[in-house]
Amino acid sequence: MLITSAKEVAELPNLKAVPSNYYVDNHHNYSLPAAIIDTNDDDDSLIPIIDFSLLSSEDPHQLSKAIQDLGRACQHWGFFMLVNHGIEEGLMEELIGVTNEFFLMPEEDKWKYKGENVFDPIKYGTSFNYTSNETNFYWRDFLKLSLHPQFHSPDQPNNFREVLRDYCDKSRKVARMLLSGISESLGLEKELMEKSLDLDSGFELLVANYYPACPQPELVLGLPPHSDFGLLTLLIQNDVGGLQIQHNGKWININPIPNSILVNTGDHLEIFTNGKYKSVLHRAIVNKEARISIGIANCPAMNAIVSPADSPLIQNERLPPLYLPKEYREYVEMQQTKPLDGKSCLDQIK
Ligand code: SIN
Ligand code: FE2
Repeated sequence: MLITSAKEVAELPNLKAVPSNYYVDNHHNYSLPAAIIDTNDDDDSLIPIIDFSLLSSEDPHQLSKAIQDLGRACQHWGFFMLVNHGIEEGLMEELIGVTNEFFLMPEEDKWKYKGENVFDPIKYGTSFNYTSNETNFYWRDFLKLSLHPQFHSPDQPNNFREVLRDYCDKSRKVARMLLSGISESLGLEKELMEKSLDLDSGFELLVANYYPACPQPELVLGLPPHSDFGLLTLLIQNDVGGLQIQHNGKWININPIPNSILVNTGDHLEIFTNGKYKSVLHRAIVNKEARISIGIANCPAMNAIVSPADSPLIQNERLPPLYLPKEYREYVEMQQTKPLDGKSCLDQIK
């Protein structure tokens, strides 16, 4: 049976109401809670802004403050907006443009990329972790691409591959620099993370999300609450909002500064830091207009065993290891195939 994409449903002639199999109330365990606040509403909801250029400052005071700010953002929020990252605005716009063109292609051209297995390097699909017996859906279509250690891209649209390669090379450099700053913020040797998790062979997954315009956005979700696997996710989006993150027990609407990159810490940074830098739950709501977001998860190598860092600063008698060591590949498989019911996959290895 051919699965219907959310975009096809959204484009059914005269669609006035969302089909009930998309209602969020049908997904057990959670519904849309009322307490949602906008970032900027009060000081507590001001998501940190990190100036990337300061992480290579030659002024030692400025540099150490930048590292401290980075650590604080990871510890207290798990999300921050990255400015002055050096990736050209035009390149980010081009990537969003070609991704939009991909989703606008005829369905049969996109379903050519329907993968069968978790580790298929190119996968087009719909909803969250789609399983064939799933009956309730999220208002979202996606394209997932493995970018590293091997680079994969669909052949269409024409310049997709070229734009993507340029963007992902630049985004990798930004992520690696952030990760070494994060190591330093923990008092660890700068290279400890890259060595112990073999980041030169690190896995990278791009997830492009297309949330079609929705006639009744209050009834559905684009993505359920989840945390991201990997170390850091770098996300860009078109100018439509929709991301909400959990902070101090509230859902906060995130409206990124134009041209910034939204960065969040993932499950494996939480494991590596033995719970100091938490992987935060987030979700996507949808709108009356279509939204696109593109995240790249920067991860350990597939065969790396991830556990709390081997340092007395991270684990000691007072801080026993909170997570069981696990091969990175096994974790991804679990996260991508199990229905998580709005919870973090980390709960499974505590
Ligand atoms: C995601 O969590 O993977 C994407 C969130 C978004 O669409 O903003
Ligand atoms: Fe996510």
